[in-house]
This record gives sequence, structure tokens and C-alpha cells, in this order.
Amino acid sequence: MIIAIDGPAASGKSTVAKAVARRLDVRHLDTGAMYRAVAWLALEEGIALDDRASLADLASANPVEFDYAHGAPVATSVRIAGLDVTSAIRSPEVDAAVSPVAAVHGVRETLVAQQRTLADARDTVVEGRDIGTVVFPDAEVKVFLTASAAERARRRQADLVAQGHAVEQAEVRSRLERRDHIDSTRTASPLEAATDAEILDTTGMSVDRVVDAIVTRVEAAR
Ligand code: DC
Repeated sequence: MIIAIDGPAASGKSTVAKAVARRLDVRHLDTGAMYRAVAWLALEEGIALDDRASLADLASANPVEFDYAHGAPVATSVRIAGLDVTSAIRSPEVDAAVSPVAAVHGVRETLVAQQRTLADARDTVVEGRDIGTVVFPDAEVKVFLTASAAERARRRQADLVAQGHAVEQAEVRSRLERRDHIDSTRTASPLEAATDAEILDTTGMSVDRVVDAIVTRVEAAR
């Protein structure tokens, strides 16, 4: 069974998707981490973010790998080109670089194929932007999480501060809105809810309530 969880930046996807995976004891797959890993490597290698051919080549030559300790549902690390990039992919520099990288058709083709392989033959909670629309259009459960821009900026700023990056909330909000705009208006798999997804606005909702709502849906679909 595939449980697809899509939504914009900082909509609570990661927290919710990991909690659902732990609750159901099924594997969690963070597809955003894959785009981030490719963006990180592009920055490392000095590839221009408008050099679409080189970005596509980079993605296909460097598969993203996840380590799951002892069958745990949530990966403990993300690797690309043999390097552990688990923390590095959460930096403001990668935040700024990832949307243009994720807009490249060739990068998406490669990563979508990897995502289908990674979730093959096992129940998986897959989080991203295009999971219910493109990667797994036949997913048994599809949820699209949203939250107001103010709430999303507040959540993302708290995450960044916890990781030691001092940033203003207004700056975080304008960066989130810029990223949403690129993600929603790109021609390759723009961010949009699948017509058969349940749309959950998580503004003011506790994580537990959101997780309960999704688990109830999964149980009904089983
Ligand atoms: O969920 P996130 O913030 O880690 O995602 C990082 C970027 O990757 C975001 O700008 C959108 C892009 N992305 C995507 O285009 N398709 C996905 N399935 C997942 C993420």
C-alpha cells in the first residue's frame, strides 16, 4: 500500500509522514530529501542552477541512498556520491537552490524512477509534491496537507533556529512563498493536489490530530 502525502514547503508533511510511518510501522520515504541531495551536490560541484543538462546528468550519475537502521520506518541518513548529507541538505543555501533543480525535467525523471524502486513491493508512506499526481497516481491513500503562509513560516523558522541558523520570520516567509511559486508554476509536475486527494488544512491543528485523521483513512482503505 502506498500512502501519498503531498503539500507545500513547511506544511507539516515531514513531521506528519514520519509519525504516520512509525504508527503503522511502515517505511517512510522523503522524496524532498532526494531533490535536496542533488541540489547540494550541484552546489558542491559548482554546477550552474540553469544548466539543465548538467543537472540531469548529475542526478542520473549519483543515485540517492537512504539508510534504515534495523528495519526502522524512518531513515537515519541520506547519502549521495558516497557522502552523508543528512544535515547539509537542510541548510538555507540548499533551500534556495532546490526549487530550480527540482524544476528540471531530466532530474525529475531520474528521481521519480528511483522513488518507484525504493517504494516497490512494500508498504510505504511517501511524502513530496507530486506523489499522488505523478509518482504513484494509484496510491491507495492520498493526502494533501496545507497551512497558512504565516503558520508555515513560523514552523520553518523554528526548525532553522533549532538547527543553529539565525533567520527572521519575514525572510523565511518570503523565501517559502518564492519556493511555492516556482514549485506551483513549473511545467514539470507542478505542485497541485490530486483530484482524489483529501485536502487537510493543518493550520492550528496538532500533529496528533492530523496523524489520527490519516491513520483512520489508511485503516479504512486496508
Ligand atoms: O519537501 P522539501 O521542502 O524537502 O522539498 C524540497 C524541494 O524539492 C521543494 O522545493 C520541492 C521539491 N520537491 C519536488 O519537486 N517534488 C517532490 N516529490 C518533493 C520535493
